[in-house]
Amino acid sequence: MVEKNKHYFKNLQNDWVNRGGKSLKISEITFTKSNDKKKSKRNKDAYPFLKWAGGKRQLIPQMKKYFPQKFNKYIEPFVGGGAVFFELYNASLVKNGAIIIDKNKELINCYRVIKDNVNVLIKSLKKHKNDEDYYYRIRKLDRKPKKYKKLSDIEKASRTIFLNRCCYNGLYRVNSKGQFNVPFGRYKNPTFCDEENLKAVSISLKNVKIIHDSFEVCLKYAEEGDFIYFDPPYFPLSETSSFTSYTKEDFGIKYQKKLHQIFNELNKRGCKLMLSNSYSNFILDLYNDYEKIILKAKRVINCDSSKRGKIKELLIINDYKD
Ligand SMILES: C[S@@+](CC[C@H](N)C(=O)[O-])C[C@H]1O[C@@H](n2cnc3c(N)ncnc32)[C@H](O)[C@@H]1O
Repeated sequence: MVEKNKHYFKNLQNDWVNRGGKSLKISEITFTKSNDKKKSKRNKDAYPFLKWAGGKRQLIPQMKKYFPQKFNKYIEPFVGGGAVFFELYNASLVKNGAIIIDKNKELINCYRVIKDNVNVLIKSLKKHKNDEDYYYRIRKLDRKPKKYKKLSDIEKASRTIFLNRCCYNGLYRVNSKGQFNVPFGRYKNPTFCDEENLKAVSISLKNVKIIHDSFEVCLKYAEEGDFIYFDPPYFPLSETSSFTSYTKEDFGIKYQKKLHQIFNELNKRGCKLMLSNSYSNFILDLYNDYEKIILKAKRVINCDSSKRGKIKELLIINDYKD
């Protein structure tokens, strides 16, 4: 019985492949390191491989002019989908290595697998199918934690990317037990295996340290001249407007204050700092001593479609030149 469950994920996938007339078992795939030998002189641009609530892709055009043009390491303690990291990488600004951090274990596992095993991951992703029953069978794999643990990191990353691309609104959301709970999205042709981008992402991660931890760990690594971009779960504008279900723990006032202390500490160290948050009195007061820029963002994660207009957001920076 246990043995049967151990191979549940593989069987689901093999079942799909076999029905398509091909036969490719995961066990036959050899593990390979990401291979960048064939790259052209300039690496291909890389983009977020997941849709992520609060993702900054749409805000990049407004944020760009505030990015420092020179810095030592780049550190992103709430990396999520990594829109800012990829933007800086594509602009060749990440020259001295980077550190990305997030508390979401499945997300960090995806980054690690893409970095080290992108080819195997691509093979696994290609075997998924955009079908409602199949989606729910893959989704429910995390309902049995002991069995879920037995999946390989590649299988887990493949599952996370597949679910993210095929779920409703493309978001990552878990319940209080840490179980993925977004319904099937019913998209006609979702891209759950963008081979070219995954390979570009793998190359972009070559000099990147990937850490599964809470944001405070950045204190251990940040030094003078490093650029650190913080994009925490936002302080809510109202009791119902917050989206903080990236992990099973909430990100309340206590954490916002802790983050502010860290911002102050890194400011003293001589780091170049940038932070996003909601346009709220609490955040305006908290970062009273720093420069604030107002950005306009389209709100996406709101079940009430009438509340999906443009809203103000804050970009907070410390005093850096260049
Ligand atoms: C607003 S999202 C970041 C979005 C990202 N900038 C992007 O463009 O996709 C916030 C992220 O913080 C992560 N997070 C929540 N609590 C955290 C904590 N205590 N430490 C580190 N990361 C945390 C969430 O998992 C989520 O990925």
